[in-house]
Amino acid sequence: MSFPVITVDGPSGAGKGTLCLRLAQALGYRLLDSGALYRIVGLQAYEAGLLSNTSTVLSAADEDAIARLTQCLRIEFLPQSSGRVDIVVNGHNVAAEIRNEQVGSYASRVAALPKVRAALFDLQKNMADEAGLIADGRDMGTVVFPNADAKVFLTASAQARADRRVKQLQQTDVAADYASILASIQERDARDETRETAPSKPAADALVIDSSDMDVDIVYDEIKAFCQQKGICFADDSQ
Ligand code: DC
Repeated sequence: MSFPVITVDGPSGAGKGTLCLRLAQALGYRLLDSGALYRIVGLQAYEAGLLSNTSTVLSAADEDAIARLTQCLRIEFLPQSSGRVDIVVNGHNVAAEIRNEQVGSYASRVAALPKVRAALFDLQKNMADEAGLIADGRDMGTVVFPNADAKVFLTASAQARADRRVKQLQQTDVAADYASILASIQERDARDETRETAPSKPAADALVIDSSDMDVDIVYDEIKAFCQQKGICFADDSQ
């Protein structure tokens, strides 16, 4: 039996996380945060001394070592009643630890390595074996779930995303510098969009939404209407 899959790809800060959680809750589907997987590998590779802070070029030997490390990770997805799925690595919940900008940059670097992507492929694919799935990432609609029932590519300008990130950090009392956040977003976008393997781009059959000047409710309604056109039923469809 196959379960419905909705893919939501696009850069960090476009609002995918919030929308995917809302879709998962409305539909009772599981949620795959594939970016978290690359963040985990990035952090582990850094802690193992395989990624330095500055060098950007990784050798074939580095790639092999990071791919081996990826294969050895015991990654568990623990669905929560909120719809979110906690990710536990070798027994530790890493949800908070992997969220900062630096780990995002490590993630983007290891995500350019074909062997790392291959090592994470089955884990992601198998998430759709037990229930409907909302898959959040960069290559969900193009590579991992090419036959998804509905594909969305959610983007926003780098400036709008940097602005949102600054506001988010300010709410948690973390000092935020707009210029350095914008620079790190642009550097990460460039790497994710130009890499050879599974670059971040919309699938040919994706609905593309630029959320720069859009309210989150409007974005949600547009995605919902698109999913309904594709035959996905929401519990409140009859209202
Ligand atoms: O969505 P995020 O910021 O958590 O993702 C972190 C990095 O992981 C991002 O810069 C690119 C990479 N990534 C990827 O290459 N493929 C995915 N499906 C998800 C994330």
